[in-house]
Amino acid sequence: MTQHAQAFDQWIRTDFKAINTELEQLYFQQQDKANVEGVGDDLKARMESGGRGFIEKLLAEGNTDEGFDSNFDLLGNVGMYMAACRRHDLTEPSRERKSPLKAASALALHIGASLGVTPRFATSHLTTHCLAKAGVPKRFTSLDDEALFIDYNTLAVLAYKRAADALVRILPMGISHPVAIHLLEDARQALVDVAKWNQVLFDKLDSERFFNSVRPYYKPFRVGQHEYRGANAGDFAGINEIDMLLGLCQANNPFYSQLLVDKFLYMMPEDQRRLRDVMRRRSFLDDLLSAAKTDADSDWFQRVLPAFLAVQQAHGHTAIQHHDQLVSRFIAKPSTEMAAQHLKQVTASGPPLEVLMRSLQGLRDLRAAAPRDDIPSRYRDINALSALVKGQRHD
Ligand code: HEM
Repeated sequence: MTQHAQAFDQWIRTDFKAINTELEQLYFQQQDKANVEGVGDDLKARMESGGRGFIEKLLAEGNTDEGFDSNFDLLGNVGMYMAACRRHDLTEPSRERKSPLKAASALALHIGASLGVTPRFATSHLTTHCLAKAGVPKRFTSLDDEALFIDYNTLAVLAYKRAADALVRILPMGISHPVAIHLLEDARQALVDVAKWNQVLFDKLDSERFFNSVRPYYKPFRVGQHEYRGANAGDFAGINEIDMLLGLCQANNPFYSQLLVDKFLYMMPEDQRRLRDVMRRRSFLDDLLSAAKTDADSDWFQRVLPAFLAVQQAHGHTAIQHHDQLVSRFIAKPSTEMAAQHLKQVTASGPPLEVLMRSLQGLRDLRAAAPRDDIPSRYRDINALSALVKGQRHD
């Protein structure tokens, strides 16, 4: 890391965080907690000019080749600064044609393009790739609810990644291999952990604090000319690897492939590679449906089938939790209580809330193999396989 990059990092970890925290306390005291207009203007100006000072020096220095990790980290810092300017309404994509943060945009575009990632902070900057110093990771604020939200998101992301790793390892040996059943069990246990962390978020996160003081840092903003959607916990490959290897979502379904295409640059390059690889594989569900024609009564099939179905159920359960608990309590409900003038700012990805909710419901139902015929749910295939588990056969 260059000296300028280090100084900027230190500022992000100290003054930047203190100013954001102070502003959040001022907003939160108001009757209309979503209002930021005319509140703490001196603090906002200090934040904007403080960050600009570091960024102008970094821009003049050029994208010196300090290796992927340093450059990615710097991109995270520039992105956090731009996201905070957006949160405090110093920038607002719908009233601009290009970002007024010229130096920050130039630096972010330069680094993002050279690394092959989106030119803004991504979820991995705050979760799996966020370096802690003396026990404290980088955060926007020192609010307890931000720490809780990010720490449990990180744990859930890591658990999904563990499940995906186990499933990917089955590919070269095939689903009928005697070891596959153990890998399926590893995947199931990892998904049970995802459910555990989701439950902690549901039980412990304060919805008013999250909605008003944490979530606003994840809004879309412009970098240069273009607007980039907000970061969300889903920007890693593991969950989609699980979707596709289990056969619940398919890369040739335009709804799903659009989602994948849109998220590629929000992921680390290593995740991009993994996802590309899995997109061209055949699913275990399809393998099992083919094998059922000849091997339904064989020992291997009768051992693997319940293990596979248990993984599918565990995955479906985490998706149902995400939608029916987390999105419902922390996004949908507070949105209905929010003053109408702020509503269009609610989602991180930008589309109106009802459009976003429909799309998330679709994902939930695909993962849960729910009985729906308007989307390519595999519920008939899952039911057909379930009926083949010995002891449950009706033929
Ligand atoms: C996407 C809400 C926690 C995984 C989303 C979206 C929302 C949301 C609203 C849609 C994108 C957007 O914001 O525009 C929440 C809330 C959470 C939470 C309120 C907790 C308070 C988590 C956790 C995970 C997760 C712990 C696990 C890693 C995902 C995934 C997506 C997503 C994978 C992308 C869409 C998909 O593939 O389902 N989330 N989320 N979320 N979230 Fe969460």
